[in-house]
Amino acid sequence: MADIKKIIEDINKLRKERKAVILAHNYQLPEVQEIADFVGDSLGLSRQAAKTDAQVIVFCGVYFMAETAYILSPEKKVLIPDSASGCPMADMITAKQLRELKTKHPGALVVAYVNSTADVKAETDYCCTSANAINVVAKLIDKELIFVPDKYLGSYISKILKKEMILWEGYCPTHLNITPEAIMAKKNEYPNAKVLIHPECRSDSCALADEVASTEGFVRYAKSTSVKELIIGTEVGMLTRLRKELPEKTFIPVSEQAICPNMKKNTLEKVLWSLEELKTEVVLPELIRLKAKKAIDRMVEIA
Ligand code: 13P
Ligand code: SF4
Repeated sequence: MADIKKIIEDINKLRKERKAVILAHNYQLPEVQEIADFVGDSLGLSRQAAKTDAQVIVFCGVYFMAETAYILSPEKKVLIPDSASGCPMADMITAKQLRELKTKHPGALVVAYVNSTADVKAETDYCCTSANAINVVAKLIDKELIFVPDKYLGSYISKILKKEMILWEGYCPTHLNITPEAIMAKKNEYPNAKVLIHPECRSDSCALADEVASTEGFVRYAKSTSVKELIIGTEVGMLTRLRKELPEKTFIPVSEQAICPNMKKNTLEKVLWSLEELKTEVVLPELIRLKAKKAIDRMVEIA
């Protein structure tokens, strides 16, 4: 077992030498969140990636998030500590499948959830994250829309905006563990608690929420409410961030089984390796990057 203190010392020394910034998603391992320069949701992380002066970004998240950082900042070296940390939902649709779908609906615009590959984003008109999906679709309310890849986020938007969309059958396997039965069991146990649910959860689970929000939205809601007990319907890594920032409150996970195995692949040892070897670098063909960037820029413009 490697000495954790020594690994952290080495990470700190190298991050200075390399002029690197370490970004971590809210679902990362507690020890990775602890050493990160910034912890946040997909939207917050891409904003940080775009505005940092650092020459090297060590991106502790899943692959599409590191790709998004590269799309926005190709002049920086974007590294992912474990390049096998993919997002199964993002891999549920390919660019070829999306092209076929567009052929069936020639008049439709495509909105892609940021949890998609760069190849898919390049075939897309607008991008969105869980934090701004409602705003993006609201601006396109009169258009025929294809929404990919998350059928649950798509259904949630449709319900809120009363807007029909052509949905792809993608979903997050981790968020399927947040069932209505599990939420009801926690509500019965903690009758005064508020329920926060991520929109990647099933529609019947979202229907039980006091607030449906992105992971950063969870932090904002928990800070602004006077309620002391909160039931958390998302990946368990979220509890690290919430408990650290609000130690006086009680956070109850809907399911301890809601673990994203890919988010947990970026260990401290791999962060150190990443800084030592400057690997694994995330790069994209320039044409794909530019086309994907257009969809992200349109999101930023309208959201
Ligand atoms: P957020 O953008 O809300 O952090 O969600 C990303 C994600 O992958 C959730 O599963
Ligand atoms: Fe993808 Fe789900 Fe993991 Fe988020 S939690 S990265 S959607 S598999």
